[in-house]
This record gives sequence, structure tokens and C-alpha cells, in this order.
Amino acid sequence: MVDLPRPHERPTAFDRMLIPVHRWIWRDADRRVQKLLRFGETETDGGRDILRAAEVTSDPLLRRLYLEHAIDEFRHGVLFRHRAAELLRASQSRSNIGFQGDWLAPGGHGLDDLQVDGESDQTMLAFLHLSEKAAASRFSVYRDVMQHDPPTRAIFEEILHDETFHMNYTFTQLARVEPQRHKRHLWRARLSRLWKAYLRLATGLAGILGSILLTIQYFILLPPFAWLAKRAARRENFGWTIVSPGRGDSLDRQY
Ligand SMILES: [Fe+2]
Ligand SMILES: [Fe+2]
Repeated sequence: MVDLPRPHERPTAFDRMLIPVHRWIWRDADRRVQKLLRFGETETDGGRDILRAAEVTSDPLLRRLYLEHAIDEFRHGVLFRHRAAELLRASQSRSNIGFQGDWLAPGGHGLDDLQVDGESDQTMLAFLHLSEKAAASRFSVYRDVMQHDPPTRAIFEEILHDETFHMNYTFTQLARVEPQRHKRHLWRARLSRLWKAYLRLATGLAGILGSILLTIQYFILLPPFAWLAKRAARRENFGWTIVSPGRGDSLDRQY
């Protein structure tokens, strides 16, 4: 039996759990601008990769669908960038944007992980299906937490509609080109995404731990050296020091 995706993806339990974090991240106008700009970049890059997939596939139907898909992703990039520019003009934004939480709330797709050349249609479709599913899940959360910004919310709503279509067509096409083993391809792609998510999380945590350790070092290890340096400075004679004759003759040392 073919495991059909739901026509409208609901947020995953993980995304639902992070709703308060997403709400906090998106509440700040400057952070919103930066995230929209980054999303715009991710969508455009994803569109470029899918355009490449359209070039390399030998399946005429997939080529047509990939082309439509790529056009959608480019349009999403433009929508995000235009909205970011509007917000930027409205807020006369500063450049100090602080914590972005990208490892907790990355750009919708994860399409930035895509390596098109050398992929078969099956692995490509499995990867795209999961990426679009993740995007649909996240964008539905972003739309829901964006009550305070109706124009941005409308953009997420519009893009969510396209992502749901992308999620569904990639699944249907995967089941068409690989009717027997499409689930295996999906599981393999799922494991690969899980590994990349782990790496992203580990990198984020490593950044936080590194900052904490450096701060501890700054306040615990440096003060004794500062104290020793001050003590040594106090023992130094003030002003010029008379050097005894003959001490400056050596070329190997200063005195
Ligand atoms: Fe998109
Ligand atoms: Fe998409």
C-alpha cells in the first residue's frame, strides 16, 4: 500500500514544542529582518539547485515539475527579500541583531544541504520530499506565531501553499519512479537529515559552550596574571634607569 502524505502538513511535534522559541525569535523586528533575508537566500539557492536537477534528470515529467518548482523557490526568495526590505525601511534598522537561533530555527527547507550532481532521481525526490515536508511544518508554525505582523504572515501562508504542493508532488513522483522501494529511499534520506540536524545542533551547542568557557577563563584565569603584572610594575623603578657601564656591550641581550 502506498503511504500517501497528508495534503496539508501539520507542524511536527518538535516544531510545536519550539513554538515559544519561534515566537520569541520572530517578535524582534531586527531579528525578523535578518531571518527573512536568510530565508530569501535559502529559497533562491534551493531554486538554483532544483534548476540544476531539471538539467540533469532524464525524465521529461520530472524536468517540467522541477522547472516549476525552481520558479516557485525563486519567487519565494523574492517575496522574503521584499518583505525584509519593507521592514528594514519601516524600522530604520540597526546592524546589531544579536542571537538568531538558526540552529533551533533554521531556514525552512534545509535545501542548502542539497548536492544535485551524482544523485539519482529517487534519492533526489526523497531528499526534496523531506525538505519540503520540513519547510511546510516550519512555515505553518511561523505563520501561526506571526499574529503581530499580518503582511509577513500572509507571505508565510502563500509560501506554505506552494511547499505543500512541492511536498506532495515529490512523494507522488518518488512512488512513480520507484514503486517498490520508495520507503527505503525515504528512510535513507531521513537518516541523512537526522545526521545533519545533529551536526547543526552540535555546532550551535559548541558555540555556546565555547563562549561560556572563554568567559570563565577571562574572569578566573586572567585576574591572577593581571595582579602579578601590576605587582611587577609596582616594583619597577620610576623613570629612566641608569645602566652600569659595560652592560650594554653584549649583542645577545638588551642590558
Ligand atoms: Fe520555498
Ligand atoms: Fe519548496
